[in-house]
Amino acid sequence: MALLEVRDLVVQFHTHDGTVHAVNGVSLDVEEGETLGLVGESGCGKSVTNLAVMRLLPRPAGRIVGGQVRFEGIDLAGLPESQMRELRGRDIAMIFQDPMTSLNPVLTIEEQMVETIRAHRDVRQAEARERAIELLRMVGIPRPEARLKSFPHHFSGGMRQRVMIAMALALEPKLLIADEPTTALDVTIQAQVLELLQRLTTERGTAVILITHDLGVVAGMAHRINVMYAGFVVETGLTTELFAHPRHPYTVGLLHSIPRLDAEEGEPLIPIEGTPPDLRRPPVGCPFAPRCAWRLPACWEDNPALEPVLRGATVETTGPRATHRIACWNPPLPQEAAAGRPLREGFVPAPPPGGTLRAPSELEVPVEEDLVVFEPGGGPVTALPGAHELPEPPAGDGR
Ligand SMILES: Nc1ncnc2c1ncn2[C@@H]1O[C@H](COP(=O)(O)OP(=O)(O)OP(=O)(O)O)[C@@H](O)[C@H]1O
Ligand code: SF4
Ligand SMILES: [Mg+2]
Repeated sequence: MALLEVRDLVVQFHTHDGTVHAVNGVSLDVEEGETLGLVGESGCGKSVTNLAVMRLLPRPAGRIVGGQVRFEGIDLAGLPESQMRELRGRDIAMIFQDPMTSLNPVLTIEEQMVETIRAHRDVRQAEARERAIELLRMVGIPRPEARLKSFPHHFSGGMRQRVMIAMALALEPKLLIADEPTTALDVTIQAQVLELLQRLTTERGTAVILITHDLGVVAGMAHRINVMYAGFVVETGLTTELFAHPRHPYTVGLLHSIPRLDAEEGEPLIPIEGTPPDLRRPPVGCPFAPRCAWRLPACWEDNPALEPVLRGATVETTGPRATHRIACWNPPLPQEAAAGRPLREGFVPAPPPGGTLRAPSELEVPVEEDLVVFEPGGGPVTALPGAHELPEPPAGDGR
């Protein structure tokens, strides 16, 4: 049994504009001492997945409408709010993407930290204060004794983020969810904070879910990675495996969009063309289809389930033998992943039923304009003449 088990989590927001399908059946496991990286473009559901785990979705709009979250085998959905509050901070702590959401603007840092520590631990005021000072020092706050008297607005964004990290670590949680923990920090402090997180996992066995846009950060920190797209996990596997052998077209795009150490100076970055789907539409088919150069006719109709890359392999969800899995009908071949585009002779990405794509702006655009292309200066992939034998989509139950 993993420390955290999330199964088929579905989260929706009910807004004036309609229902936002933010998380569409996400499953993930995290073991003690393991760091799981969550990556994906803005809006793909990274924060919402974790807010749902913490039962901190903005109410009343945000709702868990399906799935299960178990922590140490306990179903969190069934816990009374008072027990959930106990668990938060003590067992599961979250470093929020926006530091101000978890700091109280009218209380000093000392009041907030001491209160947090004493709410969960039977310690005297002075002892809690000492612990707060130690934690602030650990995250690189200079003169922590003096800074305890400050209010959150006295701190810069980076300092606030460090205070928040110190507060999250105060109770030595078993699971730490770090949502973009280093974005507001300069490079030196960023390295210190990451080192601190790494020490926690190795020395104390803290499990970490690390959410970040920075693939360099996950490469150095995470044992495993979940790649998310439009509220789905589309690829999961060991970090080393995923970087060396990405098998989902979206992951291939992400990896081609980061600068490489061996890149020629001045070589352009290759953005992923197109935009993610409008999550107010219920997902039909593969959500990446409008941007995917590998798509087959089936991709427009059926959303593939997350299946082992090696068909029929036994699935391990955690640990050093975690199974590499993807949700894709037509995975790029290794040489195609390296090139960033399909190389099969005469391959034509399947046009959408009806022949046009619906852009987020609701404008009809020609199908060729929205495809993923990763070669510098390669231009959009256009339909190549000639028929081509396409691999059969594997049998799957769809999602
Ligand atoms: N309070 C809300 N009301 C309505 N929709 C929301 C709300 N919060 C999030 N969403 C929607 O849920 C989806 C997932 O959002 P989420 O914040 O999880 O994205 P993210 O992957 O964390 O992005 P980022 O990298 O920008 O932080 C988005 O489409 C977002 O617009
Ligand atoms: S090949 Fe099909 S299933 Fe795979 S990512 Fe592209 S559109 Fe989705
Ligand atoms: Mg987020």
